[in-house]
Amino acid sequence: MLKAFTRTFLSTRQYLFRPANPPAFRFQSYSVPSHKIPNNPLTMAESEQLASKLSQLGLADTVKPFPGSNPIQNPVDLFRSYISQELSKISGVDQEIIFPALEWANTPDRGDLLIPIPRLRLKEGKPQDLAAEWAEKFPKGEFLKEVVPKGSFIQFYFSPKLLFKYVLKDVLTKKEEFGSSTVGNGKKVVIEYSSPNIAKPFHAGHLRSTIIGGYLSHLHKKLGYEVVSLNYLGDWGKQFGILAIGFLRHGNEAKLEKDPINHLFEVYVAINKEIEQEKEQSQDGTSKLDEEARQYFKRMEDDDQEALQLWEKFRSFSIEKYKETYGRLNIQYDAYAGESLVSKDTMKKATEIFEEKGLVTDDDGAKLIDLRPYNKKLGKAIVQKKDGTSLYLTRDVGEAIDRYNKYKFDKMIYVIASQQDLHTAQFFKILELMGFEWAKNLQHVNFGMVQGMSTRKGTVVFLDDILNQTKESMHAVMKKNEAKYAQVENPDEIADKVGMSAVMVQDMQSKRINNYTFNWDRMLSFEGDTGPYLQYAHSRLCSIERNAADKIDISKLADADFSLLTEPKAESLVRIIAQYPDTLLMAHKNLEPSTVVTYLFKLTHTVSSCYDVLWVAGQDEKLATARLALYSSARHVLYNGMVILGLTPVHRM
Ligand code: ARG
Repeated sequence: MLKAFTRTFLSTRQYLFRPANPPAFRFQSYSVPSHKIPNNPLTMAESEQLASKLSQLGLADTVKPFPGSNPIQNPVDLFRSYISQELSKISGVDQEIIFPALEWANTPDRGDLLIPIPRLRLKEGKPQDLAAEWAEKFPKGEFLKEVVPKGSFIQFYFSPKLLFKYVLKDVLTKKEEFGSSTVGNGKKVVIEYSSPNIAKPFHAGHLRSTIIGGYLSHLHKKLGYEVVSLNYLGDWGKQFGILAIGFLRHGNEAKLEKDPINHLFEVYVAINKEIEQEKEQSQDGTSKLDEEARQYFKRMEDDDQEALQLWEKFRSFSIEKYKETYGRLNIQYDAYAGESLVSKDTMKKATEIFEEKGLVTDDDGAKLIDLRPYNKKLGKAIVQKKDGTSLYLTRDVGEAIDRYNKYKFDKMIYVIASQQDLHTAQFFKILELMGFEWAKNLQHVNFGMVQGMSTRKGTVVFLDDILNQTKESMHAVMKKNEAKYAQVENPDEIADKVGMSAVMVQDMQSKRINNYTFNWDRMLSFEGDTGPYLQYAHSRLCSIERNAADKIDISKLADADFSLLTEPKAESLVRIIAQYPDTLLMAHKNLEPSTVVTYLFKLTHTVSSCYDVLWVAGQDEKLATARLALYSSARHVLYNGMVILGLTPVHRM
């Protein structure tokens, strides 16, 4: 019964609360129309840059950038502008309708962009006939290689000749900046992720939140946002009374300092066992220790400095330790928030607003808000316990208000497991009912569960154990290739970076709402779509550059003679390279790490299919330079994408 409820609830919720992730979005598909007029207009400087670029290519006055699009930051916008401009002339349909109707093709054989004629909302004419007629008339110019009618679609294939000249030079000049955008300029986004509970294991849900949240913050920064990364620690509640009592009985200062996470967990387990025993042995099922713990926590709530001192120690040692671990995943926080730090004042005011707005009803001493009139699925939410102490839910309400006052964000993202869909939906709704206009800018980025994640220690998983085990296993894999291993300067460090990629890519590979099974063998493989494979692809591209460096001046690659690139494999590769900035913008809409991961696998598979055909070694200098320019562009893009995922690309492995 409960299961059935959760299932229906979840599916409805996804639909209702995840507008950025429309159900129509299919895994491994880029065919998502933007449905919106873009809003990233060219600056004056960019307009001039575009004009000069086009005139150098002999394309002056052939295309006007569509308003709000940005062909300097995103090459695909150049083609969108051209196609919509010309199609508008032929069809008489407004360019404003055509531009946002252009879709990515799922696979390269369907073109680079396509337009579904029915999207043009025409009153007359059969889509098939119009597609055929317009494709026939379409002026390909220097922009397109082919224009092909297919049923009620028209498929547009970009001209690789133009792509080579327009895109490769751009990548080789911008390097790390290729893919950056200014869409987020002037906007602030707060992203809360990881948020483990002190003294309890850092479970798979926290790991996913950490990985996905890290990705979202890298992505938003790349797109020009000001990002505030927050970690909202579970560091308050009666369990801290329990922990304190436990520490006074079983704790050890030295251990706490050395290994706070494990030690606090040990203490927590030990004291809970004692409490259980007491409860079993007592007549009425109560425990003296439990009562002590309750009182201890009460002292904490009442600002008793002595009681707070111990808690402060737990918190700060744990944070120090977490920082190290987060560092391995390339994550840094701007602030460590926590349930303990929600301002009492705000909570008091929140309670007053509940009353003022007539939101609360009394339920046997406790207070609750009935959310069913707004949405049946939201049920009733308890906002205050009988004894007046606060709750997880109310703390989230108070914390959101505090954050708005502090950061004045344009958007706030919570990366929390889908088990908390109901909780999140409830506090979002409560904030809205309280009249906070900004509540509509809150977004829950949820994700499914990880199955089968355990370490040698057994069922309880500590993040460090997982990461260390991954690193060790990776190190063992590397050692198998003795010759290569001997060349790696710092194998331990490399094993760590490649190991982290394994964990992270496995997590980001499919859509986040999917559950997945933690699979050691699969994850550590260099073949197939894994993190180590991306690392391998990157280091191989680096080695091509290293090997060519004595014959070719790497700093001059941007001036290579791109007309020497003629092979279909080279064409496939440049078409994918050109999609990178657009891929990031897509990821910005759906907030799916898999959008970037899938893209990088497409890129690396294509690169690897080029190796047999596009040799650099043994070619004459001009040809070798052009090919190296192509590989080097691919490497920059791969590097950039990996960094957004939170990986550290290695140069040798
Ligand atoms: N500490 C919570 C847990 O481990 C997650 C917190 C999520 N964030 C929030 N704002 N409620 O379940």
